[in-house]
Amino acid sequence: MASAASSLTSAGGNDRFNKEAAAWDSNPFVHQMSSEAWKALQKYVPALQSHPKDLDVLEIGCGTGLLSFLVAPAVHEVVAVDAAEGMIDVLKTKIDKSQTKNITPVAVLLEDPDDPSLPPADSNVPSGPRKRFDLITSHLVLHHIPELEPVLKTMLGCLKPGGIIALTDFEDFGPEAKRFHPQNKMGGVERHGINAAWISSLMTQVGFHDVDVKVAWEHKKKVERWPGEFAPEEPIGPDQGELMNFSYVLCMGSKPA
Ligand SMILES: C[S@@+](CC[C@H](N)C(=O)[O-])C[C@H]1O[C@@H](n2cnc3c(N)ncnc32)[C@H](O)[C@@H]1O
Repeated sequence: MASAASSLTSAGGNDRFNKEAAAWDSNPFVHQMSSEAWKALQKYVPALQSHPKDLDVLEIGCGTGLLSFLVAPAVHEVVAVDAAEGMIDVLKTKIDKSQTKNITPVAVLLEDPDDPSLPPADSNVPSGPRKRFDLITSHLVLHHIPELEPVLKTMLGCLKPGGIIALTDFEDFGPEAKRFHPQNKMGGVERHGINAAWISSLMTQVGFHDVDVKVAWEHKKKVERWPGEFAPEEPIGPDQGELMNFSYVLCMGSKPA
């Protein structure tokens, strides 16, 4: 089986996200959707209501940290990882300029819970066992990952006993879901959204308990009327495209205590 790393590279995913990193935060859509993801996490993750300040959080595919910066003030720590170094460089600059100091950025394609680039469980033993987490999240990332089963296994390995995953992405509701991305943004897209029944069964198979996949919010997005309507690197004109409704799923599961 190809590793997630080699597939991501061959799909051009890293190239695409390294190139897009500097301008990522200028797109209002990514801010809006990160904000919706944070609202969903607060609504549905019980630990974020009962004892948020105790939580060590891992975010996989953090990009420039839009969601990390929303989560961090509420919790103990966010370890924010992304496979694209360009994204992590932007996040580092944002951390340097901000008051938020409990985000640890890491450039890695995480395939192993014991990856040495993750922080150690005990800062006095830097080469000792790696940190484990109460909550793992990711937003708009699952549809970029070629093989989800190994990544879900890695997430299970990164959790503390009783910890949970809460992952958000757009829903694959059928062939029309393909219209989520314009033709010029298909680089690194491995599937057109997440099918709820399919991922529920995969999460159960991997060993998660209390699996619950639900639609957490809906949003109307400007999509192309025909493939290639939008020009790369140019804003979408007012007379271009049409609005289409997309649902976003929240995929939750826990590691047995
Ligand atoms: C669509 S972007 C979303 C970024 C961010 N979550 C946001 O909403 O602004 C997807 C991100 O996932 C990262 N990514 C894709 N596959 C990954 C993987 N296997 N491990 C870590 N990051 C990954 C990409 O580098 C990219 O930054």
